[in-house]
Amino acid sequence: MTNRWQFPEYFKWGVSASSYQIEGTPMNGEVPASNWDKFCARPGTVRDGVSGRIACDHQRHFEEDLDLLESFGIEHYRLSISWPRILPDGRGAVNDQGIDFYDRLIDAALKRNIKPSVTCFHWDMPQVLESKGGWLSRETAEAFADFCGILGKRFGDRVQTWYTLNEPNVVWRFGHEHGHHAPGRKLRDGALYQVMHHMLLAHGLGLAALRATTPSFARIGIAENLYSYEPAQPSREDVNAAKETFHRMNRWFLDPLFHGHYPEEEWDQLEDAVPKVLPGDMDIISIPMSFFGLNHYSPMGVVSAAGGVRPFEDWHPRTDFGWPIRQESIYWTLRFFHEIYRPVSIEITENGCCFPDQIGADGEIHDNARIAFLAGALEAVSRAYQEGVPVTAYYLWSLMDNFEWAEGYTKRFGIIHVNWETLKRTPKASAHWYSSFILN
Ligand code: GCO
Repeated sequence: MTNRWQFPEYFKWGVSASSYQIEGTPMNGEVPASNWDKFCARPGTVRDGVSGRIACDHQRHFEEDLDLLESFGIEHYRLSISWPRILPDGRGAVNDQGIDFYDRLIDAALKRNIKPSVTCFHWDMPQVLESKGGWLSRETAEAFADFCGILGKRFGDRVQTWYTLNEPNVVWRFGHEHGHHAPGRKLRDGALYQVMHHMLLAHGLGLAALRATTPSFARIGIAENLYSYEPAQPSREDVNAAKETFHRMNRWFLDPLFHGHYPEEEWDQLEDAVPKVLPGDMDIISIPMSFFGLNHYSPMGVVSAAGGVRPFEDWHPRTDFGWPIRQESIYWTLRFFHEIYRPVSIEITENGCCFPDQIGADGEIHDNARIAFLAGALEAVSRAYQEGVPVTAYYLWSLMDNFEWAEGYTKRFGIIHVNWETLKRTPKASAHWYSSFILN
């Protein structure tokens, strides 16, 4: 029997957000040209034709946002640093205004006893690099390593936890295959796999650059969204079938990181479409990480030994995105991942849900569905921990409602509500629930 919510003393509780989704892009008249600015400006790409130009204007409201975090006792804040804000020209000259903003943000967090952890690439990149081919070009991976080195030098004295890339497989699929995220490419075959290889290489080069520029206390990993499957029944056969599906669907990204090679079967199937891999690349990609960051959202389906994979039925409860609400899927993902790859430690770097939250007549936001979602998710994480999975942190997505990529401002993921007319912040009931959960 496991306890419903049992976590170790050292467990880290936090919230996540990202630069383009909350900051607002202009700063003191300077406009960093990012791939997402460019993508949003193209008609028909983002719902309602909006962009992250203002977003939550976190760059001007960050003190107020951190005050709220402090009042909730949330001691970890996973933020991302905008690459175009630091290196608007892609390489070379560093924008001091950008550095200054993150200096102030990091110091303001530490002053409140909130530890910032930093993602180096959460999807916004200098448009100059995108115009030169973006992730199709090997130079982008090298430019990313320069960027990581700059961040390590400037902020490594105060930041303990670093993530190189956020969800390369989502950038790959959505941005480069389906084209409904920036940069909106629709690539096939060799070109598509080249993008993945360059992102994995960027991770390895970025990790090495961070290691070279940060003190020994720095912990460095990646944040990735894994395809998640559940067994239809807890029988040995179904569990094995679900685990096998999990492995097959994720090994293209995970084998290079953990074993230093692409999976043979998939590689052979690509035939002429294999990416160009230079000698030494796989050693760089597989440099050991301090931990693995797991972003967990929508489970893909249920697997049985007899019937294979089937999607969730239509009647299944879903979030506003249409994602099935199956919190136990996080348990199965943690368990399968741990059994197959044995990562030294796992942080849940994102988990959350969106609902059409509204301020009620009493001035409060009663997002009870989110509270139920979180309670179930934390129970599943706790179960994995009690069974020996080395999970060490949980970052809730998200700090506040924000720019949800191609969905614009129509999906509310925050535990703090944002009024899109006035930018007024109002904590939702879930913020109070999460606070009391952490503090008790
Ligand atoms: C992702 C990104 C976040 C999203 C969140 C909700 O995981 O896709 O890291 O930026 O906003 O996942 O879709």
